[in-house]
Amino acid sequence: MSRLNDPEYVAVLRTDEWPSSIGARYGISRHAVKRDRAKLGERRENPTTGPVIAGESETHRPDGSADYVLNSEQAWGYSDFCRFIESKGQNPDEVTFTWGVTTNPSGGFWNKLNNVRPKVAGKDDGAPEWPVIQPAERVQFVTGWVPPKPARDGLKLSLKCADTQIGFRAGGNTIEAFHDWTAINVFIAVCRAEQPDSIIILGDFLDLAAQGKYVQEAGFARTTQMALNDGHLMLSLLRAACPNSQIVLVEGNHDKRMQSFIEQNALAAFGLKQANMPDSWPVMSLPNLLRMGELNIDYMDAYPAAAHWDDDTTRNIHGTRANSRGSTMAQYVQDAPHINTWAGHTHRTEIIYKTVIGPRGEPIETYSANPGALCHTDGRVPSVHGAIHADGSSARVVEDWQQGFGSLLHGDGVAWPQVHRIRDGVTVYNGKRFTVEHMGVHA
Ligand SMILES: [Fe+2]
Ligand SMILES: [Fe+2]
Repeated sequence: MSRLNDPEYVAVLRTDEWPSSIGARYGISRHAVKRDRAKLGERRENPTTGPVIAGESETHRPDGSADYVLNSEQAWGYSDFCRFIESKGQNPDEVTFTWGVTTNPSGGFWNKLNNVRPKVAGKDDGAPEWPVIQPAERVQFVTGWVPPKPARDGLKLSLKCADTQIGFRAGGNTIEAFHDWTAINVFIAVCRAEQPDSIIILGDFLDLAAQGKYVQEAGFARTTQMALNDGHLMLSLLRAACPNSQIVLVEGNHDKRMQSFIEQNALAAFGLKQANMPDSWPVMSLPNLLRMGELNIDYMDAYPAAAHWDDDTTRNIHGTRANSRGSTMAQYVQDAPHINTWAGHTHRTEIIYKTVIGPRGEPIETYSANPGALCHTDGRVPSVHGAIHADGSSARVVEDWQQGFGSLLHGDGVAWPQVHRIRDGVTVYNGKRFTVEHMGVHA
């Protein structure tokens, strides 16, 4: 049996007693003691030693809890997280934590260790049992090397996504996420490879089921804060992947729920701003709660008027129309055949063109496109078709929804819009396959 399995001997090795003195006590040479110390050092080594990698982060909160995001070649298991906690000087048996792993779009894995805090017997820190909504937990990313921007023949590239519906249903022992991290990571992987001029998120970024007007399920309660945290995480990942891209979030009807909820239930809190910051977003607004300013992300509010224009003829909106039996995009090209429209809302991937006669008899071609959704399409997202089992989980439903994203190359009066499907965590974009698997706590 190895001496290193003897806890007493290991404890002695961890003191600064001279090797010769330890050797004399255990009847071995001082060289053997030194070798054992070296082996012990390897075993205790922080599995992430090495230079800080882009996207790694470490967050310490005033209450003593901490979060870590760490990169590795191989996905970490539970024991790796325990070893890491040990390397931070804490005993894994004396702390609580949650962990998860996602694949890193640029190779390897993100190992996520959240809410590491000492176990407390009995009632915890006296925090309210139904915590008030607060800004998302801050995620600090280190932006390192990013791929060079591909040449595009003088054209600008705008990538589009929509309807992430970030939110949760917490019932019994299970937590269901409405948003699909696999699809989200595929989109972020494409963004990273392309370094686009702009990334436009076409609304319904959050689901905000607890603030909705529909039947309240028990499982919605307390999930708002989790959604804000995941929303901020996605925006942080996007910003880390594309440090130089303009990123815009256009408000959707679900995002608007936060404002409507405050207006209806806590009018006194509506529009309140931080002291001495008259130009800031209100405290309870999504840009503030998602910390969008810190990530240099623009928010276009006032749905359904909320819009961002790529150029003189191309608008990005969330959309108000949903034609369940036909093309919704056809309605936009009928309504406004002189401009191009990117819209979400229906969760259906679609692109349609229209050509009308211009003022000098020339043909004018425009299009309307929906990139599809980045939420799950199997009945988890609350919708008119949804149904809930007795245990609070959702029934599987086949929604007529598709996952995907959009791309627009434009400039000098030309536009090359495309929509791209994401199927089972895979997309093929410009002839290249992008796959990202997600295996973590968020699934
Ligand atoms: Fe939606
Ligand atoms: Fe919507």
